[in-house]
Amino acid sequence: MADRRYVRRFGRSERLQHLVLLVTFLGLAATGLPLLFSDAAWARPMAQLLGGFGVTGTLHRIFAASLIAVSLVHVSWIALRVLRGERGVLWGPTSLVPQPRDLVELYRHVRWFLWRGPKPAFDRYTYWEKFDYLAVFWGMVIIGGSGLMLWFPEFFARFLPGWAFNVALLVHGEEALLAVGFIVTIHFFNSHMRPRKFPMDMVMFTGVVPEEEYARERPLEYARLKSKAALEALLAPPPDPRFERRARLGGGVAIAVGLMLFVLIVVASLTR
Ligand code: HEM
Repeated sequence: MADRRYVRRFGRSERLQHLVLLVTFLGLAATGLPLLFSDAAWARPMAQLLGGFGVTGTLHRIFAASLIAVSLVHVSWIALRVLRGERGVLWGPTSLVPQPRDLVELYRHVRWFLWRGPKPAFDRYTYWEKFDYLAVFWGMVIIGGSGLMLWFPEFFARFLPGWAFNVALLVHGEEALLAVGFIVTIHFFNSHMRPRKFPMDMVMFTGVVPEEEYARERPLEYARLKSKAALEALLAPPPDPRFERRARLGGGVAIAVGLMLFVLIVVASLTR
């Protein structure tokens, strides 16, 4: 539809950060799982496909260093925006920080699920999108912290007792399973599998959303942009069809890899 108007939701930097997060997370999961389930029937062929267990461990560390780097870039990017006076990053309707009205929206959403009230009107970010975002932070602290302990044991042994490394190994593996399970079920479902989005929501790749979809899904933000006459500045051309096709292919591969890893976890857990 050539006359369709599009609204810019995410800029280049946000989309690039998300892409690196997506690739490194799936890479970490794909290289970590054969180590965790090394006795499962699929682990050896999978590790051999990657170059053997030694190479798998090295690849895991390369993905880990890249994920830590993009996390640091993200935190610096946020800090820079706050220092430049963008107070809305930390609080208010355009912030990803959970606020009291998220609890109200959650309550109203549950009522709507139960046919007991109207659908709540959402702002720039919904309560579940904020949860997904914050989960990366505590995931990085728990998985990243325990991963660094496994990577540099001599350094951490200077001030930590021996048993802490057993705990780190356990926590790293279990939290990784939780993270993969959450992303592949809840995040994939909320973002791509729900009605109107299936098979894929392209906004994190293209950065733009059709105007009528934006007005329907984020009515509060849409109304605010309109009342401040700020919408015109966010109107964008439709995504380039060639880019969209490539993004669809890449996103499809990522979803397929995530689902495959999830199936491997289920198979390994049931046959242990
Ligand atoms: C972000 C920073 C991370 C660091 C620094 C890190 C580091 C490590 C290291 C050094 C190991 C031991 C590898 C070996 O034995 O050769 C390991 C194992 C593992 N990692 Fe990570 N990792 C990180 C993130 C992740 C993530 C995001 C996942 C999954 C989503 C993950 C899943 C695993 C699993 C399942 C194991 C095997 C644990 C076991 O053998 O019990 N890691 N990691």
